[in-house]
Amino acid sequence: MNPIPLTQSLPSVSRIIAGCMGLGGGWNHDPVTPEHIAQAHNFVDVALENGMTLFDHADIYARGKAEHVFGQVLAERPAIREHLFLQSKCGIRMEGAERGRNVPKRYDFSKQWILHSVENSLSRLKTDYLDLLLLHRPDSLMEPEEIAEAFDQLKKAGKVRHFGVSNMSGHQIKYLQSFVDQPIVVNQIEMSLTRLDWLNDGVSFNHNQGHSVSFVPGTVEYCRSHNIQLQAWGCLSQGMFSGRDISDKDETTQATAHQVAEMAQEMDVSREAIILAWLMRHPAAIQPVVGTTNPQRIRACSGAEQITLSREQWYQLYVTARGERLP
Ligand SMILES: NC(=O)c1ccc[n+]([C@@H]2O[C@H](COP(=O)([O-])OP(=O)(O)OC[C@H]3O[C@@H](n4cnc5c(N)ncnc54)[C@H](OP(=O)(O)O)[C@@H]3O)[C@@H](O)[C@H]2O)c1
Repeated sequence: MNPIPLTQSLPSVSRIIAGCMGLGGGWNHDPVTPEHIAQAHNFVDVALENGMTLFDHADIYARGKAEHVFGQVLAERPAIREHLFLQSKCGIRMEGAERGRNVPKRYDFSKQWILHSVENSLSRLKTDYLDLLLLHRPDSLMEPEEIAEAFDQLKKAGKVRHFGVSNMSGHQIKYLQSFVDQPIVVNQIEMSLTRLDWLNDGVSFNHNQGHSVSFVPGTVEYCRSHNIQLQAWGCLSQGMFSGRDISDKDETTQATAHQVAEMAQEMDVSREAIILAWLMRHPAAIQPVVGTTNPQRIRACSGAEQITLSREQWYQLYVTARGERLP
């Protein structure tokens, strides 16, 4: 396989990313237990054994508890830090009570919040630096000059090595990059057999099927032509095509699951391997961010690196998952 764009910044980074949103015991205010920490140890071990060296976090996952339990792993086994890459995100602030007032969920790319959030992530993760920091979701009130200052300060202090964004269109990245000196090297967006608008955007151009595509056209092309690594969140479609009960789902979902199972059997690999290999066959050299914390499923995902789907297999799955013929 060709090297992925991110290897220009992190030469030995893995193709598949271990998503950490499922660590820490959930999005509640319950305290972390020894079981949650044991789960994180096991998760890190299984991911590393299966070649996944990049771990995807966000300051908000499980309200900070995902980073916290991961930090406990690093505190107990500091020697593993140099064998892995840590990516976290900032910019989403949860609703709740602050200083006696109820505040809504909001986005915040202010310099003050970015710096504050990174300090908290470093402290929870028990590390001196993040390999990558991503802005989580576009803030309508962002002042790009402030982001530029925050990034420069974090880079100069050695607290963040590389920068990226998430859920941004090509236009938004271009605009942001025109103010920011630090290169934007990652865009993490939702891409999967259930989330297809990043492909439909291209094939439905100049056709009335295109009316229903909400994806901002040209985002994939912008990232590719600027060597920005595309990362796919939600890539397993929450297990919809790899064993979750889908008896209440529509015909297209059932047909896609059936086809994934058939291909897996033909190629003698797991269904997860087929689902991820489908994303990885795209020439943008996508990095799937897998969200499973189940050791067996993590192993099943790693099988994707051993196979390459043919053009025919790729289109067969795409068309089935689209639920309509190509134009
Ligand atoms: N940038 C963003 O805005 C953004 C948004 C969301 C997530 N993310 C990142 O992307 C990662 C993946 O996203 P995701 O978790 O939304 O999507 P995902 O990888 O498609 O789905 C993972 C979820 O599906 C469950 N699952 C997988 N296979 C299953 C099966 N066969 N049966 C039952 N359940 C199954 C997993 O549970 P088990 O753990 O039990 O396997 C887990 O809860 C996250 O960890 C996070 O790092 C980023």
